[in-house]
Order: sequence, then C-alpha cells, then structure tokens
Amino acid sequence: MLQKIKETADFLMQTYPSKAKIAIVLGSGLNNLIQDIAVEHIVSYADIPNFPISTVKGHEGNLLFGKLNGVAVVAMQGRFHYYEGYDMKQVTFPIRVFKAMGVENVILSNAAGGINPLFHVGDIMMITDHINLFPEHPLRGKNEDSLGPRFPDMSETYSKVLLQKAEQIAQKHNILYHKGVYVGTQGPTFETPAEYKMFRFIGGDCVGMSTVPEAIVAHHTNMNCIAFSVVTDLGISDVVEKVSHQEVLNAACVAEPKLRLIVSELVKVI
Ligand code: HPA
Repeated sequence: MLQKIKETADFLMQTYPSKAKIAIVLGSGLNNLIQDIAVEHIVSYADIPNFPISTVKGHEGNLLFGKLNGVAVVAMQGRFHYYEGYDMKQVTFPIRVFKAMGVENVILSNAAGGINPLFHVGDIMMITDHINLFPEHPLRGKNEDSLGPRFPDMSETYSKVLLQKAEQIAQKHNILYHKGVYVGTQGPTFETPAEYKMFRFIGGDCVGMSTVPEAIVAHHTNMNCIAFSVVTDLGISDVVEKVSHQEVLNAACVAEPKLRLIVSELVKVI
C-alpha cells in the first residue's frame, strides 16, 4: 500500500506542484461548494494511478486543485462509498494520498438522516463524534507504522479546535447549527423505522453512509479533521416519511449555501 500511495502522491505532485493545505470531501448534493473554488487544475479520477474507478454512471470523479478564499485546497468532486462495492482501503485511499502530499487538514461533508427529535430538514450538524457500524474497518490488516499507530486513540477524532472555529463562524452569520453524533452505516438502504429508533437509542443524532471511514483514516494518520452533516430527511417519529435519493439531493441543495459560507471562511482560519 505504501508504494501505491507514494506513486499516486508523486503523480499528483508532478502534475500540479503547489501544495494544498486543506482537503475537502463533498457529500451528496453538496457539490456546489466547489463553485467557490478558483480552480487551477483538474484531474479526472480515471487518469490518477491507483485511484478506484467510479462505479456510478454520471458521477463526476475529479480532483480539483485551486484556491478557496485564497487558501490552497484540493477537493474531491465525488467520493467513494462502501455501498458502491469498494473495499475500505479504496474508500479511504484518497485521504492517504492527501497526507502523503503534505495536506494536514480534512473537511468532510455528507447528507444524513436526522434522528435527533430537535432536528429539521435543512439543518447543519457539526459532527463531534461517530458510531462506526460499517461491517469492514479501514485499518484492518497489517498496520503500516509509518502511517499511524496500530491501536489509534479515538477520543478526539474530530478536531475540537476546528469545531470551535466553525462554531464561531456560524454564530457570526446567525446560522443555526447543531453538534452531534453521526452513525455510519453501510447502506445502500435507508433505515427502517425500527433502525432509526435503534440508532437514536444508541446515541446517534444523524445517520449516513459515508464519512466515518475517511475520518478514521485521517485521524489515524494524524490529520486534523472536521465533518459536517446536512440533515436531508428525518427518521424521528413513529411514522417515518418515505425518503428517496432525489429528496436527499434536493434538501442538501437548500442547506448548501449555509455550509458553503462556513467552509469558505473556515479555510481561512485553519
Ligand atoms: N439514512 C442513511 N443515509 C442517509 C440518510 C438516511 O436517512 N439521508 C441521507 N443519507
């Protein structure tokens, strides 16, 4: 794996030599965040050695290099989900590559189902912690000690310093936000009413199908990580409304300007 990471990082650094400070991974329906980036270089995933090949028809898969608010960033336009069939090493490979390129900070975002009864569709939740219910672990297997420890401490997966900065920005702009626990599941089914209830019972505030693997690997390799959920549907009452992918995308679009503002100001103070 080390060899592959190095090969990919070297390739990207050759095609675009200036160093990004922050990596941004965008969730479903949140791709417009990219519009704020002054793009200087685009590489299709298909042209990146060792990168997983996208399985989803019409899914854009590009790495964007450029400036967000004057700060050098690399953004993933399209992420790799476990439910698409990738294994966890593939899902988290880009994070490993970013670290090898000298990127020290990761901003993750996702669309998620709200299970805290105080949440509404369109709300933003800053992730303070997660519950990992994926059936495969990204760190399973021989540990590469040069990447991170065998048994990583997980008491602060999401950087408290970054969280505090994000909170200050949200408060300054009167953006309502929540803080809470993200339950990561494999999908691709949304939850049954009984599952939503169980996830609330075990301490979740939101549930979704991404983010946890990337956050684990970012933390393992000592990057600062912050993650945001946009609440796109609710699984809180006894009668759970039907949810479709299109509804998730629509709701994410509505919330997007708020998250866009937070992220574009956050990069300046990281
Ligand atoms: N459950 C799981 N993943 C999701 C949901 C949900 O309700 N909404 C958006 N992604």
